[in-house]
Amino acid sequence: MPSVATSSDGAATSQAEVSAEIEAIEAAYQRAGVEETQPRLDYAPYRSSLLRHPTKDLHHADPEGVELWTPCFGPRDVGALEADLTIGQRGEPIGERMVVTGRVVDGDGRPVRRQLVEIWQANAAGRYIHQRDQHPAPVDPNFTGTGRCLTDDDGYYRFTTIKPGPYPWKNHRNAWRPAHIHFSLFGTEFTQRMITQMYFPGDPLFALDPIYQAITDRKARDRLVATYDHDVTTHEWATGYRWDVVLTGASRTPMEDS
Ligand SMILES: [Fe+2]
Repeated sequence: MPSVATSSDGAATSQAEVSAEIEAIEAAYQRAGVEETQPRLDYAPYRSSLLRHPTKDLHHADPEGVELWTPCFGPRDVGALEADLTIGQRGEPIGERMVVTGRVVDGDGRPVRRQLVEIWQANAAGRYIHQRDQHPAPVDPNFTGTGRCLTDDDGYYRFTTIKPGPYPWKNHRNAWRPAHIHFSLFGTEFTQRMITQMYFPGDPLFALDPIYQAITDRKARDRLVATYDHDVTTHEWATGYRWDVVLTGASRTPMEDS
């Protein structure tokens, strides 16, 4: 695993140093007064990305015509049960059972139908089932943390899952990610795939997290935070969160690949 980022004197970078950089960039952003709603690729507090973020424009592919119009996945490819991350193993996963649902819409609020939505996330203890995640939190044998579904005629997706825990990462010393669920929206061809993260309201780690803060505009950051919705919550079963994804336009959801 990569080691913790260090300062020029060799000492591990502290949260205080990272937070000071986040605040300085935020202040400069406010002074500039130019709205910027997508994540910055070159964002110094996000130490882990400094040597691996893209520095050139993407190579623009010219997909075959059929790829522009044919959905990559249809109802026959995606089973309804794949939207429930709490089933399919030998037992039930540990943690807060929750439903997350919302609409995928275009910039004019029109539903984006039959789109493949994939999610992946840590378990309730903040641990991924991944070779590179070896921090001392338990793996849950009944939770893989992956699921997928297609949006319906009104653009709605819906997952049943376990609320993920925050987890440490090696960006700097004592660095912790706010709890989040990774989302991928496939579009109708590989070159349209969009990836982002959904967060939970009131997370105390927001101000400290260089990935969340790499979206320098507060209103844009807020679009990644789900809303607790008691109408989604179900009696004696699961809490409910709502989170909509806007693909284009002024209220576009920030994505990791612009
Ligand atoms: Fe993650």
